[in-house]
Amino acid sequence: MTTSRLRSLRDHIRWAVSRFHGEELFFGHGTDNAWDEARQLVLGAVHLPWEIADSYLDCHLEVEEVEHIQALLKRRIEERVPTAYLLGEAMFCGLPFIVDERVLVPRSPIGELIEQRFVPWLGADPLRILDLCTGSGCIGIACAYEFPNAEVVLGDLSYEALEVANQNIERHGLDERVYTVQGDGFEGLPNQRFDLIVSNPPYVDAEDFADMPAEYQHEPELGLACGDDGLNLVRRMLAEAADHLTDKGLLIIEVGNSQVHVEALYPEVDFAWLEFNNGGHGVFMLSVEQCRAHQALFASRVL
Ligand SMILES: C[S@@+](CC[C@H](N)C(=O)[O-])C[C@H]1O[C@@H](n2cnc3c(N)ncnc32)[C@H](O)[C@@H]1O
Repeated sequence: MTTSRLRSLRDHIRWAVSRFHGEELFFGHGTDNAWDEARQLVLGAVHLPWEIADSYLDCHLEVEEVEHIQALLKRRIEERVPTAYLLGEAMFCGLPFIVDERVLVPRSPIGELIEQRFVPWLGADPLRILDLCTGSGCIGIACAYEFPNAEVVLGDLSYEALEVANQNIERHGLDERVYTVQGDGFEGLPNQRFDLIVSNPPYVDAEDFADMPAEYQHEPELGLACGDDGLNLVRRMLAEAADHLTDKGLLIIEVGNSQVHVEALYPEVDFAWLEFNNGGHGVFMLSVEQCRAHQALFASRVL
């Protein structure tokens, strides 16, 4: 990479955009285009906020800053490491989260539902919330901000992911009412009920998983792939959800492109597929009554 004439932030952003296009990088971890990705990486590398005035882009950089920016750009281009991992941080619901290769990069469209406090789906404010398959903890922690009286449980199978979730609980000063539980699905939560269960589980089907761009190889496979139709875990969550919801409980699960498999697998069930203003799809909602009514059906489709 010839970068010897690059001096300012603007020089580096412009150069990065050209290289990102030339090398056909994929943008799917918080940005969707080369300009936003380059700005996020270059400004983030020198701890400057995204929103700084453009006039600062022409400031000269110290030699160490140039070296650091260029080292990160090199890894983004040559190793296809997602920007969030290079910076060690990702934003979700306007909040910063510590991230590394033990957890998925936060990007769930469920963030939009959280910012809208799940209106009009939730009646009263939930007092107990479960974020199942929590990864970095981003969904549950963002819920804790929106519902300051709620106790929030963050569940995950991966001990490594929960180490990151615990760092984020501490970072946000929420350890009095947000805590982690390790287990396979609901395994670590016997007899526990919640007013809201929200989950972005692994749901990528085998075909999509085989086609994923190189950037996704840096994410834990446990967070993405989940059997031929992507629904191995979702089938179990559906079968057990009724036993973990309160009488006014709601279940919200993201299944992305595997929406087609959910619809084919349970044609009898009237899933509410939620809509998003900021992009995203494949998130359904079920009431506790629906979970109870279809529990036998759900149990019969567990693999
Ligand atoms: C798609 S990631 C989502 C992470 C986070 N909720 C987010 O939106 O960024 C799925 C998470 O599910 C966890 N997971 C995979 N299989 C699981 C299981 N059987 N039980 C509980 N968690 C599981 C993975 O470790 C991973 O952290």
